[in-house]
Amino acid sequence: MYRAFYSLSQDPFTKDIRPQYHFPSRGFKEALARIRYLIETRGIGVILGEPGCGKTYALRSVAESLNPSLYRTAYLSLSTGTTMDMYRAIAAGLGEEPRFRKVDLFGQIQKAVGHLYYDKKITPVFIMDEMHIARSEFLLDLAMIFNFSMDSKNPFVLILSGLPFFQSRLRLNQAQPLAQRIIVQYKFEPLDKDEVKGYLDHRLRLVGAVTPIFTDQAIEAIASHTGGWPRLINNLASTALLYGAQLKKNPIDEDIIRMAAEETSL
Ligand SMILES: Nc1ncnc2c1ncn2[C@@H]1O[C@H](COP(=O)(O)OP(=O)(O)OP(=O)(O)O)[C@@H](O)[C@H]1O
Ligand SMILES: [Mg+2]
Repeated sequence: MYRAFYSLSQDPFTKDIRPQYHFPSRGFKEALARIRYLIETRGIGVILGEPGCGKTYALRSVAESLNPSLYRTAYLSLSTGTTMDMYRAIAAGLGEEPRFRKVDLFGQIQKAVGHLYYDKKITPVFIMDEMHIARSEFLLDLAMIFNFSMDSKNPFVLILSGLPFFQSRLRLNQAQPLAQRIIVQYKFEPLDKDEVKGYLDHRLRLVGAVTPIFTDQAIEAIASHTGGWPRLINNLASTALLYGAQLKKNPIDEDIIRMAAEETSL
């Protein structure tokens, strides 16, 4: 109902936003640049950041932009299954019918990576999300699977993404074989105040807003309640729009933001 009140064609702060409509924050652009560099260089990279900072969105954006005749991309999330499911998904992502036993699967994955890269000239790109929940055993296995040390150049790209504490997992002894081979690392920072304003304007304009819906003080309040993390901004701004419409407030001021922040426990 707030859409009608604020003359918006759609909900502005939905989580699904197509890559071409991204807000070009400094952090997001930097993340994209690092991921693209990693993809050109090949090898292993790490993308870290607090919940809702835009990791998955950035990874999916890059993945969607890759030319399928040069890259074969598999997006895998650790939250969706066991480690065996992950290995099977890696094999399936390479177009293989996953073998049953773990050792066979590992051999199958290595062979398929080599075949794809050397024979077909297609670089496999594996994106593993939610890596902070990975056990040490899985990190060791990854080091083993992706050990193509006979070659001077890696025949694959492996991007590991997760919450910042994944970094401390990587520092543990058992993770050293993997950690030592990381060539790119990036950690998302929150949006600063100007960027929060830019982000709100950007997403509102995408759904047809013509006049500013939030006052400058409201924007400042959104920035301070959310710390500049995009998902929190989405949640708070959406709730504020609901309240704003109920109370017939246009533009929305900082009082509405305060109410919405209480509702969203920020
Ligand atoms: N540059 C951006 N432009 C537009 N929207 C963005 C941008 N960055 C983040 N978002 C918004 O923030 C939401 C959260 O981002 P995302 O799901 O990628 O976070 P995440 O870092 O993967 O979080 P988690 O650790 O919880 O998985 C996205 O659904 C999107 O709506
Ligand atoms: Mg995510």
